[in-house]
Amino acid sequence: MLQRCATVIVENLDSVFVQIWTRNESQNRLELAASGGLDARQDNSATKPKAVATELLSDAHAATVSAVPTLQGSPAGARVAELWQANTQTADECRISFAGEPLLVNGRLVGALALFSRQPLSEFARKALGTVSDSIALGIERYRMESVIQEIEERFQAVIEFAADAMVITDATGHIALVNAAAERLFGYERSEMLNEPIEFLIPARLRESHVASRNQYLKMPYSRAMQDTSNLLVLCKDGSECPVEISLSPIKTDRLTLYAASIRDITERKQAEEERTRLLATVEHQHAELQMILDSVPALIFYKDRQSRLVRVNAAHAQCFGLPREQIEGKTDAELGAPHASEYLRDDLQVITTGEPLRGIVEQFQTPAGPRWLQTEKMPHRDSHGNIVGLVGLAVDITERKNLEEQLRQAQKLESIGRLAGGVAHDFNNLLTVINGYSELLLEKMEVTDLQRPLLKEIRDAGERAAGLTHQLLAFSRKQVLEPRVLNLNQQVANLEKMLRRLIGENIRLRTKLEPQLWPVLADVGQLEQVIMNLVINARDAMSDGGDLLIQTANVDVRVRDVSHPAEVSPGNYIVLSVVDTGCGMDEATRARIFEPFFTTKEEGRGTGLGLAVVYGIVKQSSGHIAVQTERGQGTTFSIYLPWTQQSEPVAVPHQVVQRFPPGTETILLVEDEPIVRQLASRALHTCGYTVLEAANGREGLRVSATHPGAIHLLVTDLIMPVLCGRKLAEQLVQERPTVKVLYVSGYTADAISQHDIAAPGTAFLQKPFTPTTLTQKVREVLDLLIPHLNESV
Ligand SMILES: Nc1ncnc2c1ncn2[C@@H]1O[C@H](COP(=O)(O)OP(=O)(O)OP(=O)(O)O)[C@@H](O)[C@H]1O
Ligand SMILES: [Mg+2]
Repeated sequence: MLQRCATVIVENLDSVFVQIWTRNESQNRLELAASGGLDARQDNSATKPKAVATELLSDAHAATVSAVPTLQGSPAGARVAELWQANTQTADECRISFAGEPLLVNGRLVGALALFSRQPLSEFARKALGTVSDSIALGIERYRMESVIQEIEERFQAVIEFAADAMVITDATGHIALVNAAAERLFGYERSEMLNEPIEFLIPARLRESHVASRNQYLKMPYSRAMQDTSNLLVLCKDGSECPVEISLSPIKTDRLTLYAASIRDITERKQAEEERTRLLATVEHQHAELQMILDSVPALIFYKDRQSRLVRVNAAHAQCFGLPREQIEGKTDAELGAPHASEYLRDDLQVITTGEPLRGIVEQFQTPAGPRWLQTEKMPHRDSHGNIVGLVGLAVDITERKNLEEQLRQAQKLESIGRLAGGVAHDFNNLLTVINGYSELLLEKMEVTDLQRPLLKEIRDAGERAAGLTHQLLAFSRKQVLEPRVLNLNQQVANLEKMLRRLIGENIRLRTKLEPQLWPVLADVGQLEQVIMNLVINARDAMSDGGDLLIQTANVDVRVRDVSHPAEVSPGNYIVLSVVDTGCGMDEATRARIFEPFFTTKEEGRGTGLGLAVVYGIVKQSSGHIAVQTERGQGTTFSIYLPWTQQSEPVAVPHQVVQRFPPGTETILLVEDEPIVRQLASRALHTCGYTVLEAANGREGLRVSATHPGAIHLLVTDLIMPVLCGRKLAEQLVQERPTVKVLYVSGYTADAISQHDIAAPGTAFLQKPFTPTTLTQKVREVLDLLIPHLNESV
């Protein structure tokens, strides 16, 4: 273009020679871009002036740059012409005149135009030259701009091409216009396979629709930004795999159109790392939660303190004990929490932290929202992986139940020893009372009804019987009675007694019963259980002298491990609980602690013996049961009797026999009793009824007597506890020798020598001392008349 300009100027402005120079901005010099006229036609001669012109105009440029507005006709311009004339070798030949025009755009020098003529330039030529110069300057500028743009484009292409991220550039219709090498690598397509395809071609099918929608959305307001929800973006690769990516978008505006560049980063590894981190975090959290759960499920208090004795972490039991939410405890010291023994705790903590030695067995009473509890605490130093003590770990076990149990055991042991004493006394008394009552009865039998001594004798007999009643109660307390346990339903017992109880308690006390309809059976002695109910009801009545409510309740109870709603000594299992609840005066702790002691009574002289609950205690314990008492002064009392559930089925009831006072007999009885007076009495009573009585003072003698007796022996009546050979052993041996013999054991109390099993054996019975001639002879007749199939067959 410039060349054409040069040629046109030469042809039209009557010039010999024209040169157009452009400015090289980076090197800041003028370069000859085109020339016309003399030089153009005569290559040889043109070479030299061109070189000179270059040099000169470079100098001129230096001048024009600093004095652009005044170049034309300026001293600089004149100097140029002058220099030209002085140096050119063709000056004569050409008779040159010169015009130099700076080429300016907006005052900025973009080049220079030099015109040489053989004659001076006309005014017209000068003006025309000015106009042409302006046009040439604009042309040069435009050309320069285009080159710049082209260069930028080339560089931009290079930048895109070598970008680390995949670049996909689309047009407004979403068709791919440009991709880079990284995109080829990411998607696995050749460049040619991607160009002109819609961008959705690179999106998994299920996401295409939403992609189109979000693309359209973006087109409405395009600006450079990261794509929303970048964490879940996926692209589809040639091999069908999907790849998580992060995309940032930017619109690229040109004169003619707008393109959209997506910079796509493969975040597979980052995702994996993130997932791994999330997984690890979840695992850690899970483990943390699991650990806390384990700690929380431990019934003991667990805590961790730092070196400043601050509670860093505690478990649920600890928080519960303090009655505060965990968050309010953690981070605080015991003092800040207002713990009453905070200074002692601190002293212990410091000891553990400074010595590194654990501290064990700190027993203390602690006030909790649920009342006072006993805690036994251990504190152990906590060390980091380098062995430095960083705090302490504490473990406090609630030993309240153990303490209570110990207390109960102490009570039970006390009652046990009293029981042994009472049992021993009762045993000896029984023998004496058997004699006193027995002979009184025999004498009364023989005495005339009109005899004046008779009332006196009756007094003796009655006092004896009362004494027998007392020893009987003592035996019950000392658990030395012989029980006759049967499978029975407690509801039945309560129902049988109800009428009598109503009479007993009077009218100002309301009696209610609440009986479990599906009550489990128990194995117990009917008579003894009635005694228990009676004693409890009488006590309740006495406690409600001004009237009140009395409730007798039965329930099935499944006692679980550590079930605190039941007494600590009740071991886990199924129980039938009989409760007697009154609204009476209740008891203070001092009274409650002693109620089971025999002869402990708060009742006035003559009103209570203090044996009622002792008997209840003995019977319940002997029946493998437990008693719980809940009471408070003025708040009424609840006695709960726990009896173990039995799996045995209910036996068929034995019809009650009506027996005569002294039933006659013909059989032979072997009577073995070490106490001579008791033996004599028994012998006499049996004799009176017609029995043949063989006597012996102990077991061994009994066997001897049997051996020397040629006839049959129908019944062995033997004391249980005897020196030399006890009643049970004697019976065993005798039954071997004489298989048809029946056995009646007599005793003041059951020692270990006899078990419930022994008296439950067929043909075996038991008679409690003290007995009277009547009870003895009736029992003997009863046993002899028992139908024992296998025994009777062999008779
Ligand atoms: N339901 C109750 N309410 C309040 N106090 C009671 C209750 N039951 C027992 N007690 C207290 O326990 C004491 C002992 O009772 P226990 O039955 O052993 O003897 P007692 O009733 O005094 O005399 P006994 O029963 O021999 O006639 C009673 O004197 C009374 O102080
Ligand atoms: Mg009583």
